Amino acid sequence: MNSSMNELLENVVLFSGLQEEELKAMLRVAVAKNYAKHAIILREGDKTDALYIITSGKVKVMLSTVGGKEVILAMLGKSEFFGEMALLDEQPRSADVVAMEPTQLLVISKTDFINCLAHNPQMSFRIMQGLIQRLRSADRKIQSLALMDVYGRVARTLLELAKPEGGRLVVGEKLSQQDLADMIGASREMVSRILKDLSLSGHIRFEARKIIVNQELPGKLAHASKM
Ligand code: CMP
Repeated sequence: MNSSMNELLENVVLFSGLQEEELKAMLRVAVAKNYAKHAIILREGDKTDALYIITSGKVKVMLSTVGGKEVILAMLGKSEFFGEMALLDEQPRSADVVAMEPTQLLVISKTDFINCLAHNPQMSFRIMQGLIQRLRSADRKIQSLALMDVYGRVARTLLELAKPEGGRLVVGEKLSQQDLADMIGASREMVSRILKDLSLSGHIRFEARKIIVNQELPGKLAHASKM
């Protein structure tokens, strides 16, 4: 394991309470794995035994139906982790995890992870914080699905994805319209129509491969009529 990997792991929130020696021990047992774009890393229902930390790239956590419909629960990037749920409750994997771009992961076995947890209350605390964040985000998703129209859901998702960049709010993610549709439970055609509307009304602007989001977006659209 090289020094850049060391540096990277120091930034992984999950490991932030570990002493240097413990971090080194974790690095010794972790195995690096590479996945191509679209590769399936975990499948819902699998019974695998590992925790995954993203060292580069991006993954989507999703559920799908036999008929091929998909819903994206979350997108996770560098320094984030997944696979903790099945390790802790000893149930099968709760969702599929798929690489959205070439992705490198560090894989830590259940035994090593549980050992480390047992010696580091800080790490248990970080896991709880991660789970709480996921619950909050799932609550927001339930709220959007139950209470907002598709316009509102697109607007909220754009605002959640946007990051400040040079005084503007910018969605820089390489996100297809299908991905956006799968995040909000709508069809690609509907999302395409709404993005066009939002662009015509000046709420968003397409610039190169980015979307510039007008800060006024949510208030105005929260009252938009049902579609
Ligand atoms: P596990 O159930 O082991 O395998 C699938 C993983 O996807 C799961 O652990 C979590 O790490 C992750 N996951 C499941 N649901 C969500 C969610 N709503 N938000 C973020 N990550 C999730």
